[in-house]
Amino acid sequence: MQIKLNSPLDMHLHLRDGDMLKTVAPLSAKTFSGAIIMPNLVPPITTKEALLSYKERILKAIGRENFIPYMTLFFKTDYDYEFLKDIKDEILAIKLYPAGITTNSEDGVDNFSIDSLAPILEAMSELGIVLCVHGETNGFVMDREAEFIPIYEKIAKRFPKLKIIMEHITTKEAVEALDRYENLYATITLHHLFITLDDVAGGLLRPHLFCKPIAKRPEDRMALRKVAFSAHEKVMFGSDSAPHPRDKKEAPGCAAGVFTAPVALPALAQIFYEAGAIENLQKFVSQNAQNIYGVTPPLKEVILEMESFEVPKEYNGVVPMFAGESLSWRVKDVI
Ligand code: DOR
Ligand code: ZN
Repeated sequence: MQIKLNSPLDMHLHLRDGDMLKTVAPLSAKTFSGAIIMPNLVPPITTKEALLSYKERILKAIGRENFIPYMTLFFKTDYDYEFLKDIKDEILAIKLYPAGITTNSEDGVDNFSIDSLAPILEAMSELGIVLCVHGETNGFVMDREAEFIPIYEKIAKRFPKLKIIMEHITTKEAVEALDRYENLYATITLHHLFITLDDVAGGLLRPHLFCKPIAKRPEDRMALRKVAFSAHEKVMFGSDSAPHPRDKKEAPGCAAGVFTAPVALPALAQIFYEAGAIENLQKFVSQNAQNIYGVTPPLKEVILEMESFEVPKEYNGVVPMFAGESLSWRVKDVI
């Protein structure tokens, strides 16, 4: 059994910088045609100069691979219209983080009043810049995403022309919100299709599965699987592959993030196949994103086959999801 995917896209990816960038970027570039690159570096990407030089470092790290890094800017309320107009052609989206909610988000937003957000959102709406959001409050960890939904709704209603992506959704509440507003879309990760909180903390603690938003309940996972497997036209694959060195994961204060880039396509093929939904994988990993973002990625044909894939225990000190386990699909060829 084989399938062919055309130009897979990862619409939410952390590539980091320095040696980590050199380790992880080639792994995504090998099988994906492009990815949306998150701006939460230290310091975050907030200027055109920083953005262009980061893009250069990414291109250098991937070498000759045919891969587009779709760049994003870190959301700040003090960007003015002229700045956004000038940078618009260099970015695909602006990523909003609530302050302190996750890795390197300290400079994020701490005031969600519409008055404070309106000027920049109005400018983005007019310029056609997409808004990507890490949608969590700082409430109780299991409730954070559901509590954020009224904020999504407030923005979606006030700016009907602004495309809003609910990043890495984990709850049935977020899935339900999708169909209430025309301008709300979502990315879904690999790990949230596979795991619930039980896998993270139900037995021995598994730090390599710890991420933000935390994996939720079986009924939430079921809702995610349903929209992903049906390739609902408003959802797309965004791995949120977030590598951290092993010593930052296997530590008393474990960093949040699951590193999935090298296993993403085989694991997606496996879970879609098992669900009898393999014919919808193309839409979920490419076509929907092309329609939502209006992009045409470079042509790349990825042949996946139903053969065992032994997942490496680590890549240069970074532990991937399914480390040391075997998946039932593997990448056979990339053309
Ligand atoms: O688990 C996560 N890790 N969630 C995020 O939102 C950020 C990411 C990271 O950058 O490590
Ligand atoms: Zn992320």
